[in-house]
Amino acid sequence: MTKTDVVVLGGGPGGYMAAERAAQGGKSVTLIEKRALGGTCLNEGCVPSKALLNSAKLYEHALHGEAFGVIAENVKIDHAKVVKRKGKVVKALVSGVGSTMQANGVNVVMANGYIKGKTADGFVVEADGKEYAGENLILACGSEVTTFPLPGLEEGLKSGYVVTNREILSMETLPKKLIAIGGGVIGLEMASYFAMIGVPVTIIEMLDKIAGPTDREISQILMKNYKKKGIDFKLSCKVTAIEADGVCYEENGESKKETGDLVLWATGRRAFTKGVGIENLGVEMNRGAVVTNEFMQTSVKGVYAVGDINGKIMLAHTAYREAEVAVNNIIGKKDVMRYNAIPSVIYTNPEVASVGETEESAKAKGIDVKVAKVSMRMSGRYMAEVEKGDGICKIVVDAKNNTLIGVHMIGSYTSEMIYGAALMLETHISIDHLKELVFPHPTVSEVIREALFEVK
Ligand code: NAI
Repeated sequence: MTKTDVVVLGGGPGGYMAAERAAQGGKSVTLIEKRALGGTCLNEGCVPSKALLNSAKLYEHALHGEAFGVIAENVKIDHAKVVKRKGKVVKALVSGVGSTMQANGVNVVMANGYIKGKTADGFVVEADGKEYAGENLILACGSEVTTFPLPGLEEGLKSGYVVTNREILSMETLPKKLIAIGGGVIGLEMASYFAMIGVPVTIIEMLDKIAGPTDREISQILMKNYKKKGIDFKLSCKVTAIEADGVCYEENGESKKETGDLVLWATGRRAFTKGVGIENLGVEMNRGAVVTNEFMQTSVKGVYAVGDINGKIMLAHTAYREAEVAVNNIIGKKDVMRYNAIPSVIYTNPEVASVGETEESAKAKGIDVKVAKVSMRMSGRYMAEVEKGDGICKIVVDAKNNTLIGVHMIGSYTSEMIYGAALMLETHISIDHLKELVFPHPTVSEVIREALFEVK
């Protein structure tokens, strides 16, 4: 038996951050990971999709450079090379995580971990025939693709006709036509890549809008931009079956079928808790996810859960912060997790970035709001760099307290600007005070300042 102060189960963003911070906090740590360090984010999610999307963006710029005086002939995209480059980026980052673990003295065990329960030695996890015990256990097992009994889904996944975020990022050959089931983040980012490189794409979404909780007007602008790229949308459509050559769905009670040679299954993810022995801990669960409090503690003293496994906000950056909160509480530093200012980004072209309440969500909570909206075209840099752009910045203000509670943007660089907006939410600074902030000129970020002056 190997005993350390902390055992971390899962080596994705939540797990590796927890291991690093715990080691830095003076704890001895064992990190158990069954596949690859970096988890879904580094290996088959956030990072690889960004590599693909950047290649598509460069290709699109070259194809449509005339308006900017850039004439490129014979522009081609080599998808296999794009995928190969993505592989190199992933490999470098995964090995970087390995080096960080080594530098911090974390004992990394590459094997499937199974929780046996609590003994006098602490929480015991079995991996590769050996036992690892920790006074504290941090659950960071991530999430898995959601499936449900849909005729043809299981067969499709087996045959490779239906793929998930995992397989689609590594395919070396292009489909002739892609059907994405689900118009959420994964469906949209992948549709964006394939459409930009010339593959016809249809998105089938059961809601009446794409991009889930995104501000409705922004979601509509995004859809308009996508339509220009040739993406076809079937909204308010319920998928009923997957056949060998297409997807059957119901629209207004009518049965229809969309044919295509590849189907992307992107209907959401759920906490991964199967086969890891969670039941041997007796932690409280809610709809398949491990319940945590604001200190990231589970119902069992000494056991914490960070990242997708707690089913709260399935984003890598949420997991990072949750990991820090868990570790700080383990090492005796009181720390509390706040979810009110977590930014989210859809890395399509144009990018969508938001933080906090939308007008809709704030009103549903009974908050009295003021909303201000400006066009991105107010920014000199945006005008200089974007042809016929229709980006906007919308801010939501708590009318009673005169503070910012939401910022929603669509347009270039918004992914890099949104953390500034998150800081504005976190600090609860009044709108009058925020107006005194000096923004660099000319930048697209100035639209936030313009929007602040539009609050009446
Ligand atoms: P999602 O929850 O974002 O979207 C799933 C979509 O599928 C929803 O719009 C839902 O209405 C739709 N849907 C569900 N069942 C359906 C059905 N039977 N027929 C048609 N539509 C159906 O989930 P997604 O896109 O799979 O992403 C999974 C997770 O990964 C999310 O939690 C997301 O936050 C995260 N992620 C984040 C990224 C980012 O931050 N840029 C990028 C990729 C993933």
